[in-house]
Amino acid sequence: MCGIVGYNGKNQAAEILLAGLEKLEYRGYDSAGMAFQTEDGLVQYKEKGRVADLRKAVDGSLESSVGIGHTRWATHGVPDRKNSHPHQSATGRFTLVHNGVIENYEKLKNSYLKDVPFASDTDTEVIVQLVEHFAEEGLMTGEAFRKALSLLHGSYAIALLDEQAPEMIFVAKNRSPLLVGVSEDCNVVASDAMAMLQVTDQFIELHDGEVVLLGRGGVTIETLEGEKIERAPYTAELDMSDIEKGTYPHYMLKEIDEQPGVIRKIMEAYSTEDGTLTIEPAIRQAFRRADRLYIIAAGTSYHAGLVGKEYIEKLAGLPAEVHISSEFGYNMPLLSEKPLFLFITQSGETADSRQVLVKVKALGYPAITMTNVPGSTLSREADHTLLLHAGPEIAVASTKAYTAQLAVLAISAYCLGDGACDFDLKQELGIAANAIETLTDAKQEMESLAAELLDNKRNAFFLGRGLDYYVSLEGALKLKEISYIQAEGFAGGELKHGTIALIEEGTPVIALATQRNVSANLRGNVKEVTARGANACIISMEGDSEPGDRLILPHIHDLLTPLAAVIPLQLLSYYASLQRGCDVDKPRNLAKSVTVE
Ligand code: M6R
Repeated sequence: MCGIVGYNGKNQAAEILLAGLEKLEYRGYDSAGMAFQTEDGLVQYKEKGRVADLRKAVDGSLESSVGIGHTRWATHGVPDRKNSHPHQSATGRFTLVHNGVIENYEKLKNSYLKDVPFASDTDTEVIVQLVEHFAEEGLMTGEAFRKALSLLHGSYAIALLDEQAPEMIFVAKNRSPLLVGVSEDCNVVASDAMAMLQVTDQFIELHDGEVVLLGRGGVTIETLEGEKIERAPYTAELDMSDIEKGTYPHYMLKEIDEQPGVIRKIMEAYSTEDGTLTIEPAIRQAFRRADRLYIIAAGTSYHAGLVGKEYIEKLAGLPAEVHISSEFGYNMPLLSEKPLFLFITQSGETADSRQVLVKVKALGYPAITMTNVPGSTLSREADHTLLLHAGPEIAVASTKAYTAQLAVLAISAYCLGDGACDFDLKQELGIAANAIETLTDAKQEMESLAAELLDNKRNAFFLGRGLDYYVSLEGALKLKEISYIQAEGFAGGELKHGTIALIEEGTPVIALATQRNVSANLRGNVKEVTARGANACIISMEGDSEPGDRLILPHIHDLLTPLAAVIPLQLLSYYASLQRGCDVDKPRNLAKSVTVE
């Protein structure tokens, strides 16, 4: 969702901010803008659409070394120029970019700003107008900024410019991601370290309720009450090649191909020196103390959680439930006596999941975050973190983070079971990684299958039973989010309880048949749909395949089949999206990091 960058340094800010915004494009957005302090006053640019459009609008001869930039994902007000950031106060003295949602903006408008003309439909504008309101009452900028912040209810990451203090960027954060970057030449601010890796790899975490004065020569971090905070920078261990597409046409395809390597990296990261799989003793203890695990997640991470529940129950013998985070927080079920919460979130920033974490922490329950982003909000706020080690995932459609989640869930469950299982997980994960490699090599086949099955189709169904059902949910999500084909995943037996009414001549049905204990039933369900005209494609596994199966996965351990079964579904979605001319990496209306509820 919205992304923020800010630069205060020795060099020209425009190109650095544009390059930073380009790095934030993956988060999802529909307009972009920037503002600069110049000798002739404040200059700003805004465009609906892509950063590329903003780039064209910027005056090449602009001289400025202090500026802020923003990509907006519309919440309040349609995506247009008027509503895109930066927003300015009525006199034009203050200019601001914001990520988050101000819940009480209407009330603040009515209480403090009745006579102020508003130029946009956004909640954001109220912040900049409030700063000006308090400055006009005689407060210094820093004080006016704090006073405005103290009135806000909601989430925000903010960068503010004051025409009368052109050497400073005023920054604040509450429940929306924001980092400060420091170097000899400049100080910067960004929603994600990736955006500013071009100028520094030294970043300082910001906590909720903190305010930053970002000067060229130094950075001061304070609480809202003005108390100074000393916090050392950390080195962002990101490689530029991790965040570049390289020779790939899309990040999604690159990330699909990275999956075998990610599984191997995870095995290494979760191994002792003698090569045994392990998890941190403190995490093991947390699981040991619990009488039930509550897995909380959204989207693809929720689908991984469904598989994870099976792992935890089957390998560790701990009862587990999986919940959609946006539902759980507002309608909590009766909890067990000693619950443990596991938040699965690639980004570590998902607002729906975070609101649950805040609630369960307030109730005093222990929480673990499984995330791909060390230092992310949910990682910081939980008691423990299980890292995914998948490397940055840039495409909006999650692929390698999903398989990483499955692998880390399997390892955690296996370690909790104290190796009592009748198989060697490390060996089986190695086999799974090789199988993924074989499957990612089958690109041409998947490209043809996408054309054959999905060309000109309005809808598609994914069927499965057991673990395959959970993978079918993920397959459907992948297809719909990037190709806009309406797709649904079903438990095989459930179809005839309603949905089969939608099957007509040529309806694509992708059926997963990797679960031996239910493959006969699943094949029966496929017969039911083909009898009604469906164009069915069965994906089965070596050793349990039948003539006519469209794709046969290399044999892997029954419990790990989701790791392999999802690969053809990812590739199918990728090619369907491509064949329809969709924006594969940045599907419409979606954001990578969903930082508002
Ligand atoms: O960062 P998170 O794992 O918490 O994100 C949750 C969902 O927003 C995410 O998985 C989303 O469903 C993906 N775009 C799916 O590909």
